[in-house]
Amino acid sequence: MCGIVGVLGKHEVAPTLVEALRRLEYRGYDSAGIATLNDGRLDRRRAVGKLVNLSDLLVHEPLPGKAGIGHTRWATHGAPSVTNAHPHQAGPVAVVHNGIIENYRDLRAELAEAGIAHETDTDTETVALLVRMHMEKGESAEEAARSVIDKLDGAYALCFLFDGEEDLMIAARKGSPLAIGHGDGEMFVGSDAIALAPLTDRITYLEEGDIAVVTRTSVVITDRYGNAANREVRKIQTAKAMVDKAGHKHFMAKEIAEQPTVIGEALQNYLSDDGTRVDLPQEALNFAAYDRLSLVACGTAYYACLTAKYWFEQLAGLPVDVDIASEFRYREPPIPQNTAALFVSQSGETADTLAALRYCDGRAARILSVVNVSESSIARESDLALPIHAGAEIGVASTKAFTCQLTVLLLLALKAAGDRGMITTERMADLLSALRGLPATINNALELDGDFKKTARRLAEADNALFLGRGLMFPLALEGALKLKEISYIHAEAYASGELKHGPIALIDKKMPVVVMAPKDALFDKTVSNMQEVMARGGKVLLITDRPGAEAAGGDAWITLTLPQIDPVLSPILYAIPAQLLAYHTAVAKGTDVDQPRNLAKSVTVE
Ligand code: M6R
Repeated sequence: MCGIVGVLGKHEVAPTLVEALRRLEYRGYDSAGIATLNDGRLDRRRAVGKLVNLSDLLVHEPLPGKAGIGHTRWATHGAPSVTNAHPHQAGPVAVVHNGIIENYRDLRAELAEAGIAHETDTDTETVALLVRMHMEKGESAEEAARSVIDKLDGAYALCFLFDGEEDLMIAARKGSPLAIGHGDGEMFVGSDAIALAPLTDRITYLEEGDIAVVTRTSVVITDRYGNAANREVRKIQTAKAMVDKAGHKHFMAKEIAEQPTVIGEALQNYLSDDGTRVDLPQEALNFAAYDRLSLVACGTAYYACLTAKYWFEQLAGLPVDVDIASEFRYREPPIPQNTAALFVSQSGETADTLAALRYCDGRAARILSVVNVSESSIARESDLALPIHAGAEIGVASTKAFTCQLTVLLLLALKAAGDRGMITTERMADLLSALRGLPATINNALELDGDFKKTARRLAEADNALFLGRGLMFPLALEGALKLKEISYIHAEAYASGELKHGPIALIDKKMPVVVMAPKDALFDKTVSNMQEVMARGGKVLLITDRPGAEAAGGDAWITLTLPQIDPVLSPILYAIPAQLLAYHTAVAKGTDVDQPRNLAKSVTVE
């Protein structure tokens, strides 16, 4: 959370900083700010709220300078205000920070004892004040930054700029990602390659504990022990990092529409050329070697894991535990012998998931991950990282990353089924053939957009909603409820259909829409009974099913939406489309901020 950027440029840097921040705004939008060296002196502009407020401010109060740093904030310490907005400055140093300095109270006390007061409520100002203190003792800018970084506990990506140092930025990383971009007589720092994509395609990712001393023509990196570190300069595919809405009103709409293409890409990457085998591109992964699988993630990625549990258990007979990373990391669960641990994360930087991975390091037989960002910490710390090939996902609500995660997890479950001799050749061929047809089937579902939009207008009138699903549709119900609440702010809860009568049925009245996700599978009749129980109590059922399901259910539902038919094993991937489009159109109808919903950020790098 929070995006940071730094530029040592040839020209005025304020527009470049703002453009890079625009590309990082998905990481937080509580405030934004930049600092530049204006005639060798640090000067700042900061504004509360979205980046557009900072851009407006800069129109009236431009900020000259060819060296600068910038920040877009997701507030942790201190309310969103101009005072608490980054960059924070103390005398000759300005700093931007992503992460949390966990020992900032002790450091604040140390400063207070020395008679140094804070002006803000942030942990970051403490860093700036400490650097100033060290510089006042005669340390150079670099020495002071190193001395202070040495004292910090917690997570940080930091970028410093100093009075009178036109050709110097100092960047440091621990627990939060940071990239250096190599230009031609220019140098850049950014929270991710997306921020730097229009500026350069040559990127160096800092490793845990690295400190980089950056000038316009050089980067000198030292590792956590202070030794010179040689970090690779990678050529990134800037096209993949390009961020635009491609004519759509919102990133979320664009990302929903992209799903047939990106799922197709994921399939292409994990299927043999003729499409008849699951083909892992990296070193072999043999599920016959494991007795248990532990799946860990947060949010939508956690729901992908819940879905995968059904697949691994039913198709491959492999017992699976699924955990929310923030619970798993502190529960200290025993990891049975021969357990493979698999972490799922779009960003690959989610702090809780990363901590859970580190807990499993040395305990689990193998650490696997399914990520969207291949250079992320979770990918780099795994024995085997499988990219989902979704491309940059900017909308805070996860859509295409979810369906690509599901696709890769299903392919892994099929691989496990094959490795463990649990699937017949015919069934494997059938499922792979259905998977190959999935992009086209999703396209057909996307064509029903008008129906989802019409339904969403009615859903938008509700204050609460329930989502129900059984078996593979239960995690999907959870995902549907999460999508709706996070972008439309309608309170939504999901239950396994069979749980309704154990309590939640008390909530049913004429005002309560109940979204039932139920293709005509082996459990359909049971779900229809639960649906009848809702309708008998005056509840309004929105049934999402296929044609045989719609026929079998009769016409009693409030609204019935009919999706294309698909092998029930693949239904969670297809039924993600109505979950996403209903939430999207409801949010649009309510006029909420679809891509940047309140209080949220895309990449959750704090606890
Ligand atoms: O980057 P990750 O996949 O690790 O993120 C996990 C969650 O923060 C994320 O899925 C979140 O729940 C989304 N906003 C849901 O749409």
